[in-house]
Amino acid sequence: MKPQYELFNISQRKDYTFKYNSKLGRHGWLRLTPAYSVKLVKEIIDEISDVKFILDPFSGTGTTGLVAAEHGFNANIFDINPFLVWFGNTKCKNYLFEDVEYLRHKKEQILELLPSYISQHNWEPDIHNIERWWSRDTLLILSALHKSICEVIGNPQDNSTGNLLWVAFNRLIIDTSSAAFNHVSMSFHNYVKIHELDQIRQLYSLSVDQILSSVKVSFIGNANAYLFDSKNFENGFNDQRYSHVITSPPYPNRISYIRELRPYMYWSKFLSNSNSAGELDWESIGGTWGIATSRLKDWQPTQTELQSGLNKIIENIVSTDQKYSNLLAKYVLKYFHDMHIHFDTMRKHLSNNARIYYIIGNSSFYGAAVPTHELLAESLHQLGYKNIQTNVIRKRNTKKQLYEYCISATYIK
Ligand SMILES: C[S@@+](CC[C@H](N)C(=O)[O-])C[C@H]1O[C@@H](n2cnc3c(N)ncnc32)[C@H](O)[C@@H]1O
Repeated sequence: MKPQYELFNISQRKDYTFKYNSKLGRHGWLRLTPAYSVKLVKEIIDEISDVKFILDPFSGTGTTGLVAAEHGFNANIFDINPFLVWFGNTKCKNYLFEDVEYLRHKKEQILELLPSYISQHNWEPDIHNIERWWSRDTLLILSALHKSICEVIGNPQDNSTGNLLWVAFNRLIIDTSSAAFNHVSMSFHNYVKIHELDQIRQLYSLSVDQILSSVKVSFIGNANAYLFDSKNFENGFNDQRYSHVITSPPYPNRISYIRELRPYMYWSKFLSNSNSAGELDWESIGGTWGIATSRLKDWQPTQTELQSGLNKIIENIVSTDQKYSNLLAKYVLKYFHDMHIHFDTMRKHLSNNARIYYIIGNSSFYGAAVPTHELLAESLHQLGYKNIQTNVIRKRNTKKQLYEYCISATYIK
């Protein structure tokens, strides 16, 4: 990774984005644009020594956990989103040859039953404007397939082998949808795709086969995902101490993970309505969906000793004098407030000399720059972390001055 002063020379480096992961077996199962690159995590893991236990407090799709397990290490990975915890555990689990054979057989059963459900009324998720995602005909087949999977293996559950067939269904709903993942966040194509029954059967069958073939590779490390709010470790987890933290927390850029994950979460029944989506986003760091935005107006910081450079940044945003300047200034304040509490309370779970690595991006609101890397480095310094380094990794956007950085630091008791 390059030091910061070489910014003018930095390129976009697709290999340091989620795009790098798409053909890497389990790593390519589902797309989440803010997922980081396996290559980046491998480079960090190759660089570190004396690994006892790795933590990823913002684990998303479980990239850190899986790379750690593939390298023979133990890891705990935390996320506030129950779908991602479910997905992380499914991705990081070792499967037996018999499991794979059993699921091949179950796939055949699901596809055999499918036509019998097509003509009946089946459950479909309460996604706002659902026909923007799928044509009505496609939806009828997807809901019949959903019903068939439920009948054969049941709903997505903790630690069940059958979850692999649900991962394949999750892939299918995105492959058949009008969602596009070529940008920083998800967008829509301006058309909806139309599918025949046979096409969907084939796509599902292919997805299952790919997923089953990718789980044949097992690993000796062990990674487990837990539902946990990493804003504040005071609320307890267990007394595990970590020698390394490797993570990419949310960025202060108003991207909502719930927004990206909506189709997966609704179809897998981890979300039932837009209110619960807003509630979850409010609990997430940097959340900005629905109710999260209106609650922000009344929110007050509980922590007063924040980064000293933060006031100036907040003033700059307010002085842009745009319709939402005050609200966005508050959004930025809350983001750095929550991250400060995170760094503070996480210390009691770090072993002496633990090294932490945070992949983070800067942002800008109405042209007012938010140097996330500098403010988080200041937070770490204030909290007594040592040997703080900030390296720039890649440029995120051709026009704007948006970069991704790796901040690393050592915790000394
Ligand atoms: C940038 S994403 C991580 C992506 C991940 N590195 C990957 O490769 O998929 C940040 C994650 O932080 C999670 N998150 C946000 N607030 C959180 C909190 N308070 N506690 C735990 N996780 C949180 C989000 O749900 C999201 O999955």
